[in-house]
Amino acid sequence: MTQSSMPLPQFRAMGETRRADAWWIQPLLVFLGFSAFIIYSTWAAFQGAHYYFEGGGANYLSPMYSPELWHPVGKPSPHAWFGELPGWFPWPAFIAFSPALLILWAPGGFRFTCYYYRGAYYKAFWGDPFNCTVGEPGFRGRKYRGENKFPLIFQNVHRYFFYLAALFIVMLSYDAIISYIWTTPEGGKTFGIGVGTLVLTVNPILLGAYTFGCHSLRHLIGGRHDCISECSAARQSAYGCVSALNRKHMMWAWLSLFWVGFTDVYVRLCSMGVWTDWRIL
Ligand code: FES
Repeated sequence: MTQSSMPLPQFRAMGETRRADAWWIQPLLVFLGFSAFIIYSTWAAFQGAHYYFEGGGANYLSPMYSPELWHPVGKPSPHAWFGELPGWFPWPAFIAFSPALLILWAPGGFRFTCYYYRGAYYKAFWGDPFNCTVGEPGFRGRKYRGENKFPLIFQNVHRYFFYLAALFIVMLSYDAIISYIWTTPEGGKTFGIGVGTLVLTVNPILLGAYTFGCHSLRHLIGGRHDCISECSAARQSAYGCVSALNRKHMMWAWLSLFWVGFTDVYVRLCSMGVWTDWRIL
């Protein structure tokens, strides 16, 4: 058998690789997809308006504003848990209050620290590396520190964000359920389904598939023990369910991200009168 030796690490200039495939396409798509979402969601979060829709008796709340703790002063909302923003709340005067700004840090932090997203944006946004076996900027002579040192060690907070993200699934599921309760012209309540109802229903399903395929949950539910199947059949089965979602984690990550954005667009455009929410039932 022929043997050859290869010294490690292999130093490469920025972008240098022996790969013959189009390795740059994936990080480029990630860069464009993330950038589009970040720009839109930031814009939407600062609007503080058109985040719910009640036309024709419908009852839709944008997921970017759920839960709505307080509504802006002078702009009543039926979804606000505690009514109008109280005077004692220390909101900075130079920023117009928007309910989304109070809550988006939780799902945002969950996504930002997700194991899949970390791998994706390290490549797409700061080329660390651009892709596997592709030379990265400034690699020569730089010591690899992984995520064990400041600031990336903070990524380990992901396991705690998971608990918050799970709570958000409950609240968004509640929003989806109440979107089936419509208000009649007389002020009563009735069962109904509009296109927006379906849009709001798909949202927690996709988010749930993403959230409950989390690597942290996989570890929590089964990986804290040396044995799984022989120790507990229930744990083995729960581990299998999380693993099944985890195998498609990237797909659920992108589908749920897109759908959150689309749901906000849908509610916003209906509220602005640009789109008509068709009632199906
Ligand atoms: S690893 Fe992606 S959500 Fe936890």
